[in-house]
Amino acid sequence: MLRDLSDDQARTALPFKWGATEPGVLPAWVAEMDFRLAEPIEDALVRAVRGSALGYPPPADGLGTAFAGFAQRHWSWRVPDDASVATGGVMSGIRLALEALCPAGPVVVPQPCYPPFRDVVAVTGRELVTVDLDPDADVATLDLAAIEAAFAAGARTFLLCNPHNPLGRAWTRSELEALAELTGRYGVRVVSDEIHAPLVLPGATFTPYLTVDQSAVMVTSASKSFNMPAVHGAQLVLLDPADRERVRALPVPAQNTWSSLGVVAGEVAWRDCDEWLAALVERLDRNRALLADELPPKARMRPLEATYLAWLDLRAYAADPCAVALRHGVRLAPGGDYQPGLPGHVRLNLATSADRLAEILHRLVTGLTTSGTGTDT
Ligand SMILES: Cc1ncc(COP(=O)(O)O)c(C=O)c1O
Repeated sequence: MLRDLSDDQARTALPFKWGATEPGVLPAWVAEMDFRLAEPIEDALVRAVRGSALGYPPPADGLGTAFAGFAQRHWSWRVPDDASVATGGVMSGIRLALEALCPAGPVVVPQPCYPPFRDVVAVTGRELVTVDLDPDADVATLDLAAIEAAFAAGARTFLLCNPHNPLGRAWTRSELEALAELTGRYGVRVVSDEIHAPLVLPGATFTPYLTVDQSAVMVTSASKSFNMPAVHGAQLVLLDPADRERVRALPVPAQNTWSSLGVVAGEVAWRDCDEWLAALVERLDRNRALLADELPPKARMRPLEATYLAWLDLRAYAADPCAVALRHGVRLAPGGDYQPGLPGHVRLNLATSADRLAEILHRLVTGLTTSGTGTDT
């Protein structure tokens, strides 16, 4: 069901991930997977292109219905069919939410974070307030005391990543309820990026943030779990009809309109690809076990509950483990991109074949264990 791309196929299919990486180096950085599209998506896109279905996109009602079906089957969550408003991408959807639906005032972003979270705050002309995770904390949690201090100082929007990239946490219902209690008290609006939600791994549970705070803005897309960012299909999920109207009423240049092919692919992904997704999650679960087995003894990894992106603390081996890995033929994402100034961390993408992951880990471990400790740049 899950079809691996060979190196040659991956170089053509994923020109950013593979093409921006030197020949001979294995890419395990940007969040793309080394797998072919699910067949129902491939077929639907081919049919759409063969049928010249590239006109202006109509209102994307089918996307909301397909998403509601997915939410019911996978998360036992009843979300209205008409709660979704289509948009071009998750980050452009977050920009739209900040501009059209959130109060003025600073925006709180926990770090480490997906780097565009910081950028989108700047793009919308808001002040960014970061709340850093202590890299030595045993469990990666939302630091509610620091978050409350930011609200007390005037912040009125909170940017949540649920599940979290790069920490790999699927926040529990009680953690999310505690956040909702706090944001409710200060009149803070939460924008929750849930693009990684279908990728919760065995042992963890995904809680849609809207089930603990109906005033939140959910932004999601099938693009991450089904490996198709190029089709530019995402959606805002808004429970208040007035919010939906406000977004729909925005002028076209403010809306960053969605793509017809994104709607075609998104509908099929939410509706017809459960078996493919199950095979993917099974593969990711096995790769997670492989990673845990192969990491060297002084590497630190908190349990990976969701996503295919492992957040590794390699401070015991190198201040710049990315540079070490690159010298040994592996490209990783540097931890400092996610939390500026943080040494010794990397994000490793394990959405690939078992053989390729084994080779990535072999090269990384060789590099780390044959380099000097703590000072290697
Ligand atoms: C948390 C998170 N949000 C958003 C995105 C990107 O979404 P889009 O390409 O739809 O803007 C990513 C991509 O990896 C991500 O990890």
